[in-house]
Amino acid sequence: MSSKRITWKSCILILGCYKIKCPLEESEKHVLKEGGSFQRLSMSDATSTSSSTQAINVEDLSISLAGSKLYTFTLEELREATHNFSWSNMLGEGGFGPVYKGFFDDKLRQGLEAQTVAVKRLDLDGLQGHREWLAEIMFLGQLRHPHLVKLIGYCNEDEHRLLVYEYMTRGCLENQLFRRYSAAMPWSTRMKIALGAAKGLAFLHGADKPIIYRDFKASNILLDSDFTAKLSDFGLAKEGPKGEETHVTTRIMGTHGYAAPEYMMTGHLTTKSDVYSYGVVLLELLTGKRVVEKSESNRGRSLVEWARPMLRDQSKLNRIIDRRLEGQFPMKGAMKVALLAYKCLSHHPHPRPAMSDVVKILEPLQDFEDAFVGPFVFVAENENGIKENSRGRTLNIHPFKFILTLGHFARNDSLI
Ligand SMILES: Nc1ncnc2c1ncn2[C@@H]1O[C@H](COP(=O)(O)OP(=O)(O)OP(=O)(O)O)[C@@H](O)[C@H]1O
Ligand SMILES: [Mg+2]
Repeated sequence: MSSKRITWKSCILILGCYKIKCPLEESEKHVLKEGGSFQRLSMSDATSTSSSTQAINVEDLSISLAGSKLYTFTLEELREATHNFSWSNMLGEGGFGPVYKGFFDDKLRQGLEAQTVAVKRLDLDGLQGHREWLAEIMFLGQLRHPHLVKLIGYCNEDEHRLLVYEYMTRGCLENQLFRRYSAAMPWSTRMKIALGAAKGLAFLHGADKPIIYRDFKASNILLDSDFTAKLSDFGLAKEGPKGEETHVTTRIMGTHGYAAPEYMMTGHLTTKSDVYSYGVVLLELLTGKRVVEKSESNRGRSLVEWARPMLRDQSKLNRIIDRRLEGQFPMKGAMKVALLAYKCLSHHPHPRPAMSDVVKILEPLQDFEDAFVGPFVFVAENENGIKENSRGRTLNIHPFKFILTLGHFARNDSLI
């Protein structure tokens, strides 16, 4: 489910994906080992034992990541865990390659707690390569937070590059929010996800050595069984500006629609670039619409341009809030969220709030109780012969527009 991606390979020609072929950018060459409570290794630490044109080997990696508690798996172990990477175990596919559901028990790897995992396998003919794999390990191997997906281990065998994560039962936000034939995601769930993802970003930005995530989007927010949001995919993450620097200059990468306008124009990256992308996801949560529409008819329309002017006008709010919510949201709370999205989507980075402020704004907006929408919508004719649902709303019945999904009646969003 990957959106159109601006990638390393769309900028430079990489000759092989098992070697670090792209020279490191200037700003990546610093070894970040200064004091502080948490000494995080940087990308350059991982490459310091080998020249940038040599393949990094397992020994280099395990030395660099000693203490990170990551498991090193063999390809054979991952084959077994995923039923030989069978099609039926496939969870999805992005720019890095396919993702499979797998299972580890004590027989497969002693000492590793029995658990379901997600195994991401680098597509050797794909758009990404060793560098993204390495960045994922360097960042996620060292960072632990309730709102970052847990990396369990990796595999580095010949040209094969794989990553093993905790399994996130509900997959990604993109699939949950935009799924067509299922009940609409309730307001309280949307707010829980918005807060969780904001906490993940605030953690990265607030680290001793701040991290710019650079690829914040609905498909990179994974959801637990209780809709706890966790950020995944650190392949494009970068260390933030240091000392007197105001920004990091990078090649332009990210995902169309989510990338901040000033970053797209100049390549100047700051934590405020992530705040813009966060605003886009917040807008998607409010409207239930994708920033980049996949359907032919809506291609080319800009969700941000269309919705942003209405975000600070209460009288227009109903026009943009997801109709599938059927009005089940708190008007005051929605107004605050809309204003927040408006600020995050500022064209200029300066007026955008810090992610720590976003967290503070969202925290008090978590207590809305969605009206119970039971497994059935009871439809009966009233004395005038007009069909009403159990909430007394008039229905425009179309026999093919009700779809039964796992005991729930979900309504096609074009119905009312
Ligand atoms: N840890 C996980 N647990 C459960 N499902 C996962 C996990 N990681 C990824 N997935 C599933 O695999 C799909 C592909 O994920 P992936 O991150 O590779 O691609 P993407 O985010 O869709 O695209 P992109 O390459 O642009 O990031 C996701 O949409 C999600 O459904
Ligand atoms: Mg992803």
